[in-house]
Amino acid sequence: MKIAVLKETRPLERRVAATPETVKKLIGLGAEIVVEAGAGDGAGLSDEAFRAAGAVIAADARSALADAEIILKVQRPREAAEGADELAGARPGAVLAAILDPHRQRAQVKDYAKRGLVAMAMELMPRITRAQAMDVLSSQSNLAGYKAVLDATQHFGRALPMMMTAAGTIAPARVLVMGAGVAGLQAIATARRLGAIVSATDVRPATKEQVESLGASFVAVMDDEFRQAQTAAGYAKEMSAAYQQKQAALIAETLKKQDIVVTTALIPGRPAPRLIDAEMVKAMKPGAVIVDLAAEAGGNCELTRPGEVTLAHGVTIVAHLNVASRLATDASALYARNLLAFLTPLIDKASKSLKLDFEDEILKGVTLTRDGQVTHPAFKEN
Ligand code: NAI
Repeated sequence: MKIAVLKETRPLERRVAATPETVKKLIGLGAEIVVEAGAGDGAGLSDEAFRAAGAVIAADARSALADAEIILKVQRPREAAEGADELAGARPGAVLAAILDPHRQRAQVKDYAKRGLVAMAMELMPRITRAQAMDVLSSQSNLAGYKAVLDATQHFGRALPMMMTAAGTIAPARVLVMGAGVAGLQAIATARRLGAIVSATDVRPATKEQVESLGASFVAVMDDEFRQAQTAAGYAKEMSAAYQQKQAALIAETLKKQDIVVTTALIPGRPAPRLIDAEMVKAMKPGAVIVDLAAEAGGNCELTRPGEVTLAHGVTIVAHLNVASRLATDASALYARNLLAFLTPLIDKASKSLKLDFEDEILKGVTLTRDGQVTHPAFKEN
């Protein structure tokens, strides 16, 4: 059973889908691993390190893909229209496991079916206890939440902790985290460790206790809608216009007092909710910093320019894309372990081959295509 690990070629992508550690473990399960040359460069992992772990290094993607039963990537493969067909040479029936962004890439999902691939979107992993170690959204968001606070400090002209010095006392900075999911909770913890006074907001009631347990205060409109704002899958629902209005009024008042705001609010498969409008930015303190981690989904702030750092009304708005890739070594290590945890139960130890049970909740959740068809109910066309 051959597993191919391809080099990522999208701009800003420095992560890799396997590490020497996971290569060794996959070989232990009976796999043969082929890594495209230079795949680990951006994450500080040399071809030599992969070779020492037992992998074969292939000169290019096509030779890595030849006969591969499993293809591992971080981001969705580039298509011919994007300058290179990264899947050229993939054999029908091969499993492709990556962050495939199926909600926005429906045409590409059909293309996986046409190629006969078993395409698996890792970000659709069900949020059940058994799948926690396989959850790429959590592993990557956690690092992004941490990095967001560090990015904020870089653009902030003040310190975060209170400092009592001979020259006088510096007041602690106030940090507001909007969206207290995985990224938000890590941002809260990081800002607290740096000594800031932290508050946070979310629409899911379960977050109140989590926020408070990290030593931050919770800011939210706690009405009946709020009490029912969580789906069975643990995600936020899109809130009504009336709720959003009440939320906006409360946030507008809170924002005026903040030094740093980290926004992380997302609704799966939908544009990011707009939480900060231009007027609210205008009313913020000069020198304040907003880090918008939802930039990829359009941003939580009206003035966010995805991929850029801009200044508006004296407020710096930081909207880096692919923030996890800015910590490529750790992000790769965790992503690679997520894939290892996902693949391990799929490999039959006796026959050392893949055994896929598509009735299993995990495979049902992530599998987009197989046998030439789009099979995932959310992406099938009627
Ligand atoms: P996410 O990345 O989809 O969204 C980030 C946060 O934004 C969420 O907390 C969401 O409630 C919040 N949000 C959405 N709209 C908002 C609005 N209008 N205003 C303020 N906040 C808003 O969520 P993430 O981080 O992926 O986590 C979702 C939940 O899943 C969390 O409870 C997390 O703890 C849980 N989870 C469970 C796992 C498991 O059981 N295996 C694994 C990972 C996460």
